[in-house]
Amino acid sequence: MHQMSGSEIAVICHESGFVHQAEQIAKLLGCPYLGLATPSQLTEPALVIEVTAAGIALAETGKKAANPIKVDFVTGALAHRRKYGGGKSQAIAKAIGLNKTKTLQVLDATAGLGRDAFVFACLGCQVTLLERSKVVHLLLADGLKRAEADLEIANIMSQLQLLQVDAKDYFQKLSHLTGQYDIVFLDPMFPHREKSAEVKKEMRIFQKLLGHDLDADQLLEAALDIAKYRVVVKRPKLAPHLADKPPTYQLTGKSGRFDIYVNKAIES
Ligand SMILES: C[S@@+](CC[C@H](N)C(=O)[O-])C[C@H]1O[C@@H](n2cnc3c(N)ncnc32)[C@H](O)[C@@H]1O
Repeated sequence: MHQMSGSEIAVICHESGFVHQAEQIAKLLGCPYLGLATPSQLTEPALVIEVTAAGIALAETGKKAANPIKVDFVTGALAHRRKYGGGKSQAIAKAIGLNKTKTLQVLDATAGLGRDAFVFACLGCQVTLLERSKVVHLLLADGLKRAEADLEIANIMSQLQLLQVDAKDYFQKLSHLTGQYDIVFLDPMFPHREKSAEVKKEMRIFQKLLGHDLDADQLLEAALDIAKYRVVVKRPKLAPHLADKPPTYQLTGKSGRFDIYVNKAIES
């Protein structure tokens, strides 16, 4: 795993009203605050956190920068997914077993930008999200806060709880509480997972920030010790199994596959 050090990322803001917040974020992350600027004016560092009136974003610097990454549960792709995503007949819903029961307690141990967790919550699950990267956690916490203030989805957002922690440490603490979560969901970073240009650009930013999750194999056995019913691993179609462990069965979704490791049949 490569996590960016403080000097490879910095914080900027666009308006004087956000200086205090930007300085606080820089302090929290242990990285420089560069003042009022836009990402295209800078060439270094490679990535900046922008504090804007519309929320916190992660942006590449320079002229050929990809679109900044910001978590948005309220509009755009996730709003579309919430309204027209196919409900419990989606592969991801079947993968966690929502075709067998109304609701599940899900531990999403690699939360990222929270998209999968949001889908679980939209389908009625209670979800605990773990994210170890301070920067990704910051983006996600900001997106959750904005969404909690939106009347249309505030109820859904109340089903999501985010923690900034490494899943390996969390699993260790939980090991005596086996069965607290029905499902453990894992989606570690893997190279070359998407084909669309926009997603590739987003992955480029993410890989600059995080590298690949090279320790991901270690999560599977610990997750299996904790999950009451199953561990579900999201993988690109051609990726090897996590920890080289063949799953009980697989389901194929639009952008990848789900490897399902069953501990026990789901009781409805
Ligand atoms: C591919 S992204 C997950 C995307 C997510 N499923 C979504 O829908 O947005 C993987 C994320 O897992 C995080 N991660 C990887 N290993 C972790 C661990 N051991 N504990 C907590 N977070 C981890 C990475 O920092 C990264 O943000």
